[in-house]
Amino acid sequence: RAGLLQDRLGRPLTDLRISVTDRCNFRCSYCMPKEVFDKNHVYLPHSALLSFEEITRLARVFVDQGVRKIRLTGGEPLLRKNIEHLIEQLAALRTPDGSPLDLTLTTNGSLLARKAQALKAAGLQRVTVSLDALDDTVFRRMNDMDFPVADVLAGIDAAREAGLGPIKVNMVVKRGTNEQEILPMARHFRERHGGDVVLRFIEYMDVGATNGWRMDEVMPSADVVAHIAAELPLRPLEASAPGETAQRWAYADGRGEIGVISSVTQAFCRDCSRLRLSTEGRVYLCLFASQGHDLRQLLRGGADDEALARTVRSIWTQRGDRYSELRARRPADGVAEGPAPRRVEMSYIGG
Ligand code: GTP
Ligand code: 5AD
Ligand code: SF4
Ligand code: SF4
Repeated sequence: RAGLLQDRLGRPLTDLRISVTDRCNFRCSYCMPKEVFDKNHVYLPHSALLSFEEITRLARVFVDQGVRKIRLTGGEPLLRKNIEHLIEQLAALRTPDGSPLDLTLTTNGSLLARKAQALKAAGLQRVTVSLDALDDTVFRRMNDMDFPVADVLAGIDAAREAGLGPIKVNMVVKRGTNEQEILPMARHFRERHGGDVVLRFIEYMDVGATNGWRMDEVMPSADVVAHIAAELPLRPLEASAPGETAQRWAYADGRGEIGVISSVTQAFCRDCSRLRLSTEGRVYLCLFASQGHDLRQLLRGGADDEALARTVRSIWTQRGDRYSELRARRPADGVAEGPAPRRVEMSYIGG
């Protein structure tokens, strides 16, 4: 029974992304632009957040339905108080055949130097760190909080020392903003960390409704790969897991690898096995969805595990989402015609 759950396009449910807070200490323009996320912005009240016990209980239900990988996200997940207690509870979960889960977290790295050891001790296996530039001026401008790059680099080092590897580093490439950082980033992680850190270049996505996305600010992954390969020869690698977001490339000299995540120019909906659980317990079937399915109400209304499992099965089996694939078929600017429902923000749903 478990593992057989499939959506309308035959995709299994294997990955769960759990957002643990809608807050962040950065204001990346492509995610939480300052003009929108200012001091008047209303965040979720504490009572609206799922408690760690509620999250763990839902996670157990999802694992019984086939989930094998759990990623904690935000906002910035390390801002959630005592996050290591949640990690301890999730690390104790087992799949029906008794294996531990692949348990990881995506962070902006600002608090990582301080928290890496505790996260590892709690049972976190690895981390993915977002970093958009090596140049301090460019980085401070992109996070828009004047946060120094050195602190994130120290976080990455601390995560390595704590054994939270292999570490992935995510760089969102915005044409006209940080494309000149592509090669310095590639060289840095290759020279300093070799195969221990995998740098991934992400196409700037039209997610949410506030970032003012424009197609001309997207740098296609093909251009990123060509740009790097001109100096550092690359050869393609096979995907390491089905439904993976990144296409992998190895440096021809064997000193590590990179990835490119091309949701704009080469959508990967076909194998999308990801479900997102928001901070307040709503299930989203796509990063670009406008509506979620409320599980918190069920949970707090006293539903038993079987009722929760039935709901999860029913939600997933009706799923037909493939936003990026459909967007790619629309006119070149990628903007849908007519009024579309307002899409959920990435800081709320966790990327
Ligand atoms: P790994 O499994 O470790 O490779 O991580 P991941 O790539 O699934 O997750 P991560 O949080 O590192 O996300 C990397 C980038 O891919 C971010 O920009 C995400 O928003 C984007 N991304 C992740 N999942 C999806 C998805 O299902 N659809 C789209 N369009 N983008 C996604
Ligand atoms: N396009 C692409 N990636 C984005 N991220 C946040 N907003 C966007 C966007 N508009 C990235 C973050 C983080 C990951 C979870 O998603 O930088 O690495
Ligand atoms: Fe915060 Fe990450 Fe969004 Fe930047 S991309 S504002 S670090 S949640
Ligand atoms: Fe999955 Fe939606 Fe992303 Fe396509 S756009 S890969 S369906 S989350």
